[in-house]
Amino acid sequence: MAETINIPSKTSKQDAQKLLNLAVTAWFVVTTIGQWAFGIYIIAFYGTSTASGDFENWNKVLPHGYVKGDWAGNLVVGLHVLLAAILVFGGPLQLMPIVRRSVPRFHRWLGRVYITTAVIVATGGFAMVWTRGAVGDHVQHVSISVQTVYIIVFALLAWHYARAGRFDIHRKWAMRLFMVVSGVWFFRVGLMCWLVLNGGPVGFDPRTFSGPFLTALAVFVYALPVSLLLLELYFYGQKTKGRIAMTVTAVAIFLLTALMVVGIFGAIMGMWWPRIG
Ligand code: HEM
Repeated sequence: MAETINIPSKTSKQDAQKLLNLAVTAWFVVTTIGQWAFGIYIIAFYGTSTASGDFENWNKVLPHGYVKGDWAGNLVVGLHVLLAAILVFGGPLQLMPIVRRSVPRFHRWLGRVYITTAVIVATGGFAMVWTRGAVGDHVQHVSISVQTVYIIVFALLAWHYARAGRFDIHRKWAMRLFMVVSGVWFFRVGLMCWLVLNGGPVGFDPRTFSGPFLTALAVFVYALPVSLLLLELYFYGQKTKGRIAMTVTAVAIFLLTALMVVGIFGAIMGMWWPRIG
């Protein structure tokens, strides 16, 4: 009797686990493609103009990019945008199980580079916001600054637990770090998804780059990241193996992945490709 009750519940748990694995795989494939597209843009736009000494070209995109005479500020901006390529190419590589399994030394080496780069890029970005200014309003500036704190704290914890050999805890902090480092990418993809779905700017003023939509996007991507909430749900589902937790998480990840496909398409066609094509 007990068995006849147990078998269907076991099967539905396995189905929920399979659904969750599928959702995470789909999300990861889409994220990798989208982050590497961002990386190609960074190298083609900033890499090429920097290598050829045409720093003024940065200002086609960054209103506070190159300022004549301010070599220290320009160095911070240059390092920020160029080192960003290491993060968007390296992040997905670090999360690939095959890379960790087949080339563990590469994983360790890239991990050190990734963590150091994340701290430098985030600190540089923080300095850029509060010394040179950035597009957007105060809430956006404060929100992305909160993300700087997450990046630095998570980076230190991921490093600490790797060195301590606590790989179960290291894995969790490394994944949290990936989510917050990806914040600026989520922001661009979220914005472009919104623009594609609405056929243009709705809920914000594109001239001042402020308004309720951008406030909400900045808060839920940077200060109170939805990505971290979903990640914690994923950890919870994995730990408890609860059918409902796994199914709800899988459905939410599928939905977000579908929105990300739209946003990545919008970002490539409307933002990155026109600047390098
Ligand atoms: C850690 C991951 C980060 C990456 C991969 C990254 C990447 C980039 C890239 C590629 C740009 C050039 C913009 C473009 O061409 O579209 C940029 C600009 C910028 N980033 Fe970051 N960034 C990161 C974190 C941050 C953080 C944490 C802050 C602030 C606290 C920040 C502040 C800025 C600012 C102020 C600009 C100039 C844009 C403007 O003038 O508004 N970044 N970033």
